[in-house]
Amino acid sequence: QAASEGDVASGAHLIVVSNRLPVTLEQKGTEWSFKLSSGGLVSALSGLKREMSFTWVGWPGKDFGADDRIKIDSLLQENSCSAVYLDDETAELYYNGFANSILWPLFHYHPGEMIFEETAWDAYQRANEAFAQALAAVVKDGDLVWIQDYHLMLLPRMLRALLDNSGRRGVKIGWFLHTPFPSSELYRILPVRRQILEGVLAADLLGFHTYDYARHFLSSCTRILGLQTTGDSVEAGGRVVRVGTFPIGIDPSKFSEALQTDEVKGRLGELERRFAGEKVIVGVDRLDYIKGVPQKLLAFEQFLSERKEGERVVLVQVAVPSRGDVEEYRQLIGSVNELVGRINGRFGTIEYTPIHFLHRSVGFAELVALYAVADVCLITSTRDGMNLVSYEYVASQAQRHGVLVLSEFAGAAQSLDGAVIVNAWNIEEVAAALALALAMPAAQREASFRTLHRYVAKHTAAYWGTSFIAELTRVRQAADAAALL
Ligand code: ADP
Ligand code: G6P
Repeated sequence: QAASEGDVASGAHLIVVSNRLPVTLEQKGTEWSFKLSSGGLVSALSGLKREMSFTWVGWPGKDFGADDRIKIDSLLQENSCSAVYLDDETAELYYNGFANSILWPLFHYHPGEMIFEETAWDAYQRANEAFAQALAAVVKDGDLVWIQDYHLMLLPRMLRALLDNSGRRGVKIGWFLHTPFPSSELYRILPVRRQILEGVLAADLLGFHTYDYARHFLSSCTRILGLQTTGDSVEAGGRVVRVGTFPIGIDPSKFSEALQTDEVKGRLGELERRFAGEKVIVGVDRLDYIKGVPQKLLAFEQFLSERKEGERVVLVQVAVPSRGDVEEYRQLIGSVNELVGRINGRFGTIEYTPIHFLHRSVGFAELVALYAVADVCLITSTRDGMNLVSYEYVASQAQRHGVLVLSEFAGAAQSLDGAVIVNAWNIEEVAAALALALAMPAAQREASFRTLHRYVAKHTAAYWGTSFIAELTRVRQAADAAALL
C-alpha cells in the first residue's frame, strides 16, 4: 500500500527506492525506535545522504497494524524516509523466496542454491507492483526516481506504465545493481529471464559496479531478447537505454573523523593493549555464503599450520547475522561454528585463542577501532558486487598502513590497486598471501596504502551518487531533445 503523498514528495526531486531502509525498527514496550541497518547498499546511500537530499522509500521489514503505522510513518518522515507496506506473506515470498533464494544465488554464481517456485515469483511481482503504486501516487513531472538492486527489477517497467497512463511527463528513472550481474551463460538458467530483463529496460539509465557486470548484462540482452546493443547502450522498444559503470564507494571522512574521537581513541588503546605482542587479522562480513567465511577460516588454519616463528597471529572475525529465514544461511552458521571450534581447539593454548569470532553486529566506534588495530584485513568473498569493508579498512589505516588481502571475485578488486589480490578458492594461495602481508616491509606497506587511500578518498559514495544522477539527467535531456526533433 502506498505511503501518503506528503511522505514521499515533500518537495524532494530525487526519490531513492530500495527494499531495505537505512533503519530497522525495534519495539520496546509500546514504543518504536530505530537501529541502523547493515549492508553495503545502506552504508553507501547513507554516505550519499550527507551530500545530497533525497527521500528514501523502502519496505520497513515487516507489516504493522494501522495504529503502529501512524507512529512509524511519522518517525520515518523525520528521517526523510517513507514506508511501502507489504503483507507478511507477500514479503516473505518476495524477499526470502524470490530475491534471496533465486536472484541472489544466481547472481553470485550459486545456481545450486536456487529454488524456483511460482508462488515466490507471483509475490515478487506483487511486491514490485506495490512499490510502483506507492511511487506513482507521489512522483511529479520531472522528478528523478532512482531504483536500487535486485529486489526491484520489475519496478522500472511497472512504474513507467503507471506514469504514462496518468500522463506524467519527464520523469527520469534510473536503476542500479549492487550485486554482480552474472555471465549470460548462467543468467539464462532463470525461468523468468525475459521478464526480469524487460523490467529494468524501462529505465533510462542502468548502472553496474564494474565493466564486466555491464558487459554480462548487455550480452544477456542480445542473447535472450535479441536486442541490438553497443558497448554502453541497448535499444529496447524504440528507446535507447544507457548502460554505465559506476563503482560505489564509502564516506571516508566518517572513519577519519571517528578516529579523532575520544571514544574510538580510547577503545583503540584498549585493543592495542589487549593484542600487545600479537599480529591482528580482521574480517568483517555479513554471514552470507558469498563472503567465503569457511574459505577464510581454512586459509587461516593452513597459515597457522605452516607458521614456524614470529609473533602470535589472531583472526578477529565479526560476522553480522543475515537472512536467518533462508535455509542456506542457517546451514552456514553451523559449518562456521564448527570450523572456528576445530581451529581454536587445534592451535589454541591457555594463553592464546587464534580466532575471536563475534556473531553479531558491532557498533560503529568498535568497528572503526577494530579496523584501525588490525595489521591485515582479509576478504575472501567467492563473489561480491563491490565489498565496502575493503574501503572501510583503508579509510581507517592512516596510522598503521595495514595490508588489504582481497579476493579477486569482489568487484573492489578491479579498482583497489595496492591490495594483495588472491583467488579465494585457493586455500594455499590465501595462506601464503597472509604470510606475505604480515612480513611486508613498512615502506612497501606505506606505498600501497597511499595508492589505495587516493582511490578510496576520491571514489566516495557521494561521487558515485552524483555521477549517476548527473548521467541520468544528461541521458534524459538528450532523449527529450531527440524526441522534439
Ligand atoms: P554487503 O553489502 O554484501 O553486506 P559490503 O562489504 O559492501 O557487503 O558492506 C557491508 C557493510 O555492513 C559495511 O558498511 C560494514 O561496515 C557493515 N557491516 C558488516 N558486518 C558488520 C558487523 N558485524 N557489524 C557492523 N557492521 C557490519
Ligand atoms: C547486499 C544487497 C543489499 C542488501 C544488503 C544486506 O548489499 O545488495 O540490497 O540490503 O546486502 O542484506 P539484507 O537482505 O539484510 O537487506
